Amino acid sequence: MKTINHFLEAKKEGKKIIMVSTYEFWSAKICEEAGVDCILVGDSAGMVIQGLDTTIPVTVEDMIYHGKAVRRGAPNSFIVIDMPFLSYQVSVEEAVKNAGRIMKETGANAVKLEGGREVSETVEKLVSAGIPVMGHLGLTPQSVHALGGYRVQGKTQEQQKRIIEDAKILEQAGVFAIVLEAVPSNLAKEITEFIEVPTIGIGAGKFTDGQVLVFHDMMGFFDRSPKFVKRYVEGKKLFKEGLNSFINEVRAGTFPGKKHTYD
Ligand code: KIV
Ligand code: NA
Repeated sequence: MKTINHFLEAKKEGKKIIMVSTYEFWSAKICEEAGVDCILVGDSAGMVIQGLDTTIPVTVEDMIYHGKAVRRGAPNSFIVIDMPFLSYQVSVEEAVKNAGRIMKETGANAVKLEGGREVSETVEKLVSAGIPVMGHLGLTPQSVHALGGYRVQGKTQEQQKRIIEDAKILEQAGVFAIVLEAVPSNLAKEITEFIEVPTIGIGAGKFTDGQVLVFHDMMGFFDRSPKFVKRYVEGKKLFKEGLNSFINEVRAGTFPGKKHTYD
């Protein structure tokens, strides 16, 4: 999957789109070698890499730093980079400038931004400037304070109607795909059937056109993960075992051995 056309084709052919969110050279390299369709450089970097409680403090500079590293690790992959909080909300002009910088300085293929009707004009402008845009609806973490916490969205009929309308508005504004985060499965299904561009779900059930997870979540590096995360590897446990071996061997004088030593 190297261009936005592949997203539409995948949906038409009923082929699931695999996206992984990650932030640095080595994990991007693993993603490309494993054959994911798309790498997202998410602003979740703020939480996963910087240890922040929210994505709100993440800057355009941070995203460019991560984006460059990911591009070096995954030279042939389709890469989407998150526009961080307040880099696209103040004005359409600022949004174009910031998205332009992200594209130019990282070699990304597209940007992602959060929200529905309130960002539709911005999406249109970015698309007409030649910058592909991925949308993001449902739980939009940059609005965590306005949403009153990290919780499932679209529980009431009114909220559901609004999210469905927003998906259509984003599609009309020109997005090539939409992330649906933390919404009931039946709502994600309805949206997926209602729009032509693919939906990529996280905590949105199995009826979306694709799935996305955060690399460090799925690899089991955190003690606690949200309900929608599946831990495919117990990474923290594995790494700790490796470290404990190093500690024990150095203390015991068995590392470095002959093999690791220059004579
Ligand atoms: O920042 C991120 O990693 C994301 C995905 C979870 C969709 O936005
Ligand atoms: Na994000």
